[in-house]
Amino acid sequence: MSGINYERKLEFARKKVAEYKQEHLLEYIDFLDVNEKERLLDDILNIDFHFLLELYKNADKEICAESLDLKPAVGVPKSTMNQKELEEIYEIGLAEISRGNLCAVTMAGGQGSRLGHEGPKGTYDIGLPSHKSLFEIQCDGLKKISEKANISIPWYIMTSETNHDDSVAFFEKNNYFGYPKEDIMFFKQSMIPVMDRQGRVLLETPAKILKSPNGNGGLFSSLKENSIFSDMHKRGIKWIFICGIDNVLVKMADPYFLGFTIKSKYKASAKSFLKRDAGEKAGVFCYKDGRPYVIEYTEIPKEYAELKDENGDYVYGDTNVLNYIFDIDVAEDIASVGLPYHTQIKSVTAYINGEYVESKKPDSYKFETFLFDSFSMLDDMGIFRIEREEEFAPVKNKTGIDSAETAREMYLAVYGEDS
Ligand code: UTP
Repeated sequence: MSGINYERKLEFARKKVAEYKQEHLLEYIDFLDVNEKERLLDDILNIDFHFLLELYKNADKEICAESLDLKPAVGVPKSTMNQKELEEIYEIGLAEISRGNLCAVTMAGGQGSRLGHEGPKGTYDIGLPSHKSLFEIQCDGLKKISEKANISIPWYIMTSETNHDDSVAFFEKNNYFGYPKEDIMFFKQSMIPVMDRQGRVLLETPAKILKSPNGNGGLFSSLKENSIFSDMHKRGIKWIFICGIDNVLVKMADPYFLGFTIKSKYKASAKSFLKRDAGEKAGVFCYKDGRPYVIEYTEIPKEYAELKDENGDYVYGDTNVLNYIFDIDVAEDIASVGLPYHTQIKSVTAYINGEYVESKKPDSYKFETFLFDSFSMLDDMGIFRIEREEEFAPVKNKTGIDSAETAREMYLAVYGEDS
């Protein structure tokens, strides 16, 4: 809107906030400098308040499995494959990588609020002897497979407005950890305004609307909006390996995983591990109404959660690990269809009535999409069951479970002190 003069923009913005009862957003405009004024007005003019208020209206009607046509989706355990089968899927996967058909995508756009680390989560040092950051750990994983496949695997890193510049600067400062710079691409995911319980969009500062990243499901639309799919096509990519930034044991561009997917003729696959107990706080794979689905621990009926097979394994036990492979065409279709929003009630710090207010308990609405909601668009998908101790050590919290300390111990148990 740089073509329209300030007075006209202000008039449009005033009309818009009045229509949606968000007048407080312009309360401090007279105290801002010229650039801040322009930025705030552009932001207001770009917000789809109608859509936001629809999300707000539905915020408390949270999502329960209306239909209980559930069937188990049982993963294929890597541990029960014999040597020949393992070699076969490894060779299939590695050959595909060597042909330049696989890229990796790291979702690093989250806010890492539980960890409370200053700066992007990827820059976090979990205290390994090498003091490698989470970004470097993933980079080293990619280097290993790149060497084996004799090719440099393109690596796309999803950031968000809040951590993009710091993430890029960190790679620059560390000389891209020795990875070919032209094969590391950053792109930002979209942000969505945060609202209070009364349906008012919150301000982060007098000059800025409070926003949060639109969830890990924002990956697909962000790949589209940032023309990343086009870049992938130019590079001849057929498969997208996807993971979060915070699992220090993730096997980047895992040839076994890709080989399993290709051999089983799936267009998408997920890794899983078996849950430890019936009430474990994680979503598990199943089929709902005949389609692949991840049912949350809060959603699954107790008798299903507790059900065991003849070996004593949980039938609804394959836990979603946030590690996937998608055929690029499928990912593009998902981006076109779009994913539903879910509401999270979170604590935030907002600028309200002339002061910064930190909520004492979760009281604000953040809206997020979940990647796993895309599974119901698929006819079927592969589930590759791995061992938790070998491949899953998340860094979520400052202390206690899923902290740097637990992740470090698990990492050292797998890779040893030299790591
Ligand atoms: P989490 O849901 O654990 O969120 O993300 P988080 O941001 O790391 O931490 P909290 O909940 O604020 O404490 C799992 C993975 O998904 C990515 C995160 O960066 C992490 O790798 N993610 C999450 C995004 O990329 N974008 C999002 O909007 C949300």
